[in-house]
Amino acid sequence: MLKVGVRTIGRGFASFAHNGRVLSSTTGTSEPQTSGKRLQGVQELRRIVNSEPNAGVAWDQVWKQKVTPWVQATSAPALLELIEQNQLPGGRALVPGCGHGNDVFALAEPGKRTVIGLDISPTVIAQCEKTREERNIPKESAQFLSADFFTYAPAKSFNVIYDYTFLGALPANLHSAWASQMHKLLDDSGELVTVIFPVDGHEGGPPYAMSPEQTINLLTPLGFRCIHLRPVTKAHKGRENIEWLGRWKKSQ
Ligand SMILES: C[S@@+](CC[C@H](N)C(=O)[O-])C[C@H]1O[C@@H](n2cnc3c(N)ncnc32)[C@H](O)[C@@H]1O
Repeated sequence: MLKVGVRTIGRGFASFAHNGRVLSSTTGTSEPQTSGKRLQGVQELRRIVNSEPNAGVAWDQVWKQKVTPWVQATSAPALLELIEQNQLPGGRALVPGCGHGNDVFALAEPGKRTVIGLDISPTVIAQCEKTREERNIPKESAQFLSADFFTYAPAKSFNVIYDYTFLGALPANLHSAWASQMHKLLDDSGELVTVIFPVDGHEGGPPYAMSPEQTINLLTPLGFRCIHLRPVTKAHKGRENIEWLGRWKKSQ
């Protein structure tokens, strides 16, 4: 049986026993691996999100003003690898906080998987729909919805849910609600995939720093079972060593 445990060894350092192997991540004390230009973008992003209490209004401003320092041209290599290796369940998939929608398009496989991209910003959802039309991707494969993740109540649960920089965009007071909503939305036999980024210990947000132990602490009390948790083997350029892949199932 696969077991994951967390042990804090000293300030800012945690070790993970994963299937008997000890892995580690620095937390809290490491220098942010942030270039000057990205840092400026992150500061502006924080300013917009912190100055507007309504998350929908704030994030819509972020997308309207194109203050999106986290955006990459493609999905995370770790997700693309899971898809290429056919490791993820088919059926219904959800990408909450989908942003520009790359991950929705990557997961959408006609005949295998229908994907819903959900985002609180109507501006970015309109962009996603335009991209879908430009790429001739059928609506049955990739659907977009402008809604708040926390009040989203679909008729059916999901076989796969993918989170990349969504949890990291939420303030800490919403983290346990994030975990409960993930639990509610995931089918009993489904899989939650989290690409945890940035594991660099910087303070403040958003985007907030993330850590593997934080994700464990949120998910395991709800009965999520970790089936994989380790640094990604391939990362976006500049994100090497600060991205971890987590895969989670519901205990049954
Ligand atoms: C840091 S971005 C990540 C976007 C995308 N996952 C990516 O990797 O590029 C966070 C996204 O979450 C969306 N968001 C924030 N709060 C949300 C909420 N409560 N419900 C749905 N989407 C939300 C924002 O509009 C934004 O697109």
